[in-house]
Amino acid sequence: MATAALVQTWARKLLPVPWLLCGPRRYASSSFKVADLQLEMTQKPHKKPDPNEALVFGKTFTDHMLMIEWSEKEGWSHPRIQPFQNLMLHPACSALHYSLQLFEGMKAFKGGDRQVRLFRPWLNMDRMLRSALRLCLPSFDKVELLECIRRLVDVDKDWVPESPGASLYVRPVLMGNESSLGVSSSTRALLFVILCPVGSYFPGDAMSPVSLLADPAFIRAWIGGVGNYKLGGNYAPTVFVQQEAKRKGCEQVLWLYGPDHQLTEVGTMNIFIYWTHEDGVLELVTPPLDGIILPGVVRQSLLDLARTWGEFRVAERKITMKEVTRALEEGRVREVFGSGTACQVCPVHRILYQGKNLHIPTMENGPELILRFQKELKAIQVRCTRWEVSWLHVSPEKFTSHVD
Ligand SMILES: Cc1ncc(COP(=O)(O)O)c(C=O)c1O
Repeated sequence: MATAALVQTWARKLLPVPWLLCGPRRYASSSFKVADLQLEMTQKPHKKPDPNEALVFGKTFTDHMLMIEWSEKEGWSHPRIQPFQNLMLHPACSALHYSLQLFEGMKAFKGGDRQVRLFRPWLNMDRMLRSALRLCLPSFDKVELLECIRRLVDVDKDWVPESPGASLYVRPVLMGNESSLGVSSSTRALLFVILCPVGSYFPGDAMSPVSLLADPAFIRAWIGGVGNYKLGGNYAPTVFVQQEAKRKGCEQVLWLYGPDHQLTEVGTMNIFIYWTHEDGVLELVTPPLDGIILPGVVRQSLLDLARTWGEFRVAERKITMKEVTRALEEGRVREVFGSGTACQVCPVHRILYQGKNLHIPTMENGPELILRFQKELKAIQVRCTRWEVSWLHVSPEKFTSHVD
């Protein structure tokens, strides 16, 4: 274990570029192992939610959680599936003071065959490890973590809702647990995973479009910053801006960046525009992963799907408000939408920008592309397809393979 800690320290000093470290099974020797998983079943199971009642996001939790501790001295503890319970933290805990904390979000779906499947979870594992290395929190073997998560979901599989659009939201967290003040890397950490049954984002399957406040005075992320990592610290400062949007009659924030007011993200979603570009070509465009965009799993999936279809140009390119305003004036915009695990795809119908309400004709245009994406994603999530991770039949190697 002492050797493992030494390797950690050495890697942090000599290899400061986190994304270089993210090959499959890096640091395998310093990871916890699913083979050591311990299981303590709850003696007081909770009542499952009534399937006829709407589930509010993030308010209901299942009976169990995954817990793994790490310390520089001892390395990783054996992973434990244990009854869902409160954490006991030292009041100086570094996650509470300096935001040494990161998280992930993904969903498990129950198919018509009653199998439970996670949607492309290896992309979340990749992103989680990148975030961990950026915060100098301990690394882990992504395959081992995914297998531990799979076991946790299996233990609580009766909590996966079956109503249309419903799912089990999986929330892995890694946090520094240093019990002393001072900004430095943490010598203790906690990795835990909790599960929430969640209802359909659009109840009744009727998609409701959102309106956005686009105010360049507020910046979510910047070049050289950490907007491309899923760190808790990125989210707290957005609450105020979200309230500002509400105050101005908008539902979400369109995050702009730079003097040319580039569109970057929508609330906690990636943004897409389906339009005829000024060169006359029909295209789907989203901003590139230049360091200020969170590499969304749904973003990647929409790009993958659209490229497979090959019916229009698919671009990852900077988009400015000037271009959007001109395209709206010239009637070239078909659909604007956000993408993310919570909603999958969410239409946008209005942008409040520089005191003017810009109407976006997304809903008038079907929204053809949004509905097609929703349908395709749903099909992948509940049926056996090449993106599937099936509970029963998948060897660990498959978890590391990416969609080709
Ligand atoms: C800032 C931000 N952008 C984009 C996304 C969408 O990412 P994903 O598709 O992985 O849910 C999220 C959601 O987690 C987010 O918080």
